[in-house]
Amino acid sequence: MKAIEIRNKYLKFFEKNGHKIIPSASLIPENDPSVLFNTAGMQPLVPYLLGEKHPEGRRLTDYQKCVRTNDIDEVGDNRHLTYFEMLGNWSLGDYFKEESIAMSYKFLTEELGIPNEKISVTCFAGDKDCPKDTVAYECWKKAGIPDERIYFFGKDDNWWIAGEEGPCGPDTEMFYDTGKPKCSPECNPACDCGKYVEIWNNVFMEFYKDKNGYTKLKQQNVDTGLGLERMTMLLQGKETPFEIELFAPVMEKLEKLQKVDNIQSRRIIAEHLRSSMMIINDGGRPSNVDRGYILRRLLRRMTRHMNKLEIDLSILGDIIDTSIESLKELYPELEKNKETIKQVIITEKDKFIKTLKNGEKEFEKVANKTKNNNQTIIDAESVFNLYETYGFPPEMTEELASEQGLTVDMKNYQKLFEEHQAKSRMGSDIKFKGGLASTGEIETKYHTATHLLNAALKVVLGNHVHQKGSNITTERLRFDFSHGAKMTDEEKQKVEDLVNEYIKQDIKVERIEMKKEEALKLGAEAMFLDKYGEDVIVYKIGDISLEFCGGPHVESTGCLGTFKIKKEEASSAGVRRIKAILL
Ligand code: SER
Repeated sequence: MKAIEIRNKYLKFFEKNGHKIIPSASLIPENDPSVLFNTAGMQPLVPYLLGEKHPEGRRLTDYQKCVRTNDIDEVGDNRHLTYFEMLGNWSLGDYFKEESIAMSYKFLTEELGIPNEKISVTCFAGDKDCPKDTVAYECWKKAGIPDERIYFFGKDDNWWIAGEEGPCGPDTEMFYDTGKPKCSPECNPACDCGKYVEIWNNVFMEFYKDKNGYTKLKQQNVDTGLGLERMTMLLQGKETPFEIELFAPVMEKLEKLQKVDNIQSRRIIAEHLRSSMMIINDGGRPSNVDRGYILRRLLRRMTRHMNKLEIDLSILGDIIDTSIESLKELYPELEKNKETIKQVIITEKDKFIKTLKNGEKEFEKVANKTKNNNQTIIDAESVFNLYETYGFPPEMTEELASEQGLTVDMKNYQKLFEEHQAKSRMGSDIKFKGGLASTGEIETKYHTATHLLNAALKVVLGNHVHQKGSNITTERLRFDFSHGAKMTDEEKQKVEDLVNEYIKQDIKVERIEMKKEEALKLGAEAMFLDKYGEDVIVYKIGDISLEFCGGPHVESTGCLGTFKIKKEEASSAGVRRIKAILL
């Protein structure tokens, strides 16, 4: 069965079971600076898991484009991918464990034709936060999975949360038995020897976690995720995702084009190319920060591995064509945006190949020097120089080093990098912190009002409130902040009154230059701490507010007029959004 058939079967099956099909969200999360890419199907749905009404109802199904980059260095082995597609079905306070498990079992056995004996499952073993999931266990028994193929594990294996804070809960996971022998008598689905492959994860999201612990959500949700590439691979009896139709044509092409044989490099090229295309298609562009930097790393790593295989880099366009050809059935948008995608990738490649050869030579010198000095760690200055002069992301130098049994001094590299950035950052902080496109008089007022709002929210809701995003136009301010629940009308009123009180007091706004350390000691609020150098600017508004900020601000609060909250809504996982105006 091809990937597209599995996706279609999935969506149809859940549609038949009362679910509405919703489109995949963009890989680039809207207005959520706390994550670079969508890493799971649940991410765009967080407000609805927390209780907001979804316009399409309480049963949804979708495919979600995901990028996970924490394992980027593992790509090249037989299973890691940075981009993947997750099929999901969602109950937003509708059905729970019983129906979810019954549907999953039916889909696996009847729609995909997986025999019962091939399926093992795991359930949550229970701990102080949540009892053992005997309900899930009973449901599996009822479906026909015998005791010996039902396992119980703790939070490490059977609890799902995206990051540190947010909706979460115990999960039950389904595993496919590849038929390989057990690696030891104890071998079980938690073992990653390759006998058992996880195919589906049903999360019973009824908790919310923040730093104070777990609380129950308003509703019991189900969030399931089935990795499309992995399922396709298993159903086709393949050993790696690189053998399925989404990658095979590119892999074959690379094999024909290469002058040096290396399967890891071919996988890295094919995989990074696909991820990059998907990111570019959703609007990502290479740069030196955040998601642009990840894209740059993917493209530069891809280019280096093409170089390693001695593939003529001028035919990258053909390779892109081949890749899009095999992906367009799943993502017709790639075909539509082909020219842009090609242009972005080829431009980045061209930029990099100018320095790649010289950079590699320079690296060899550095590596030899290190070895001749009987050292195994490449010094930070050399790593920095390779980045500054030759465009080698430090992670790439690290990878090159590891091929020769060397490591790099990342810690001091980071320091050097920050020192270097400190000055140029001072200027860019203005844009970063305030989210300001231009800073006219009205925007400046909104900027100061944003600081007052941040301070008032802390007073009314608590010190867990931190800025997560900000955007200002001449019409309004928009402020995203960490807070787990919808604000009550009373809370909103209190915040509004407090901001207006601060305005009435006509408090002086002071711009102070100081050392980062000192500002932190004083408890200054910072949104992206690691974005700041040693010397920082903070803005102080009486005893009310102290924030890292490039400004500009009004001289004193009296000129702001009247502050009014227009809207309070969910923004993303544990993040609320306020839109407010000055009258
Ligand atoms: N959120 C879960 C996961 O990513 C299930 O969709 O695995």
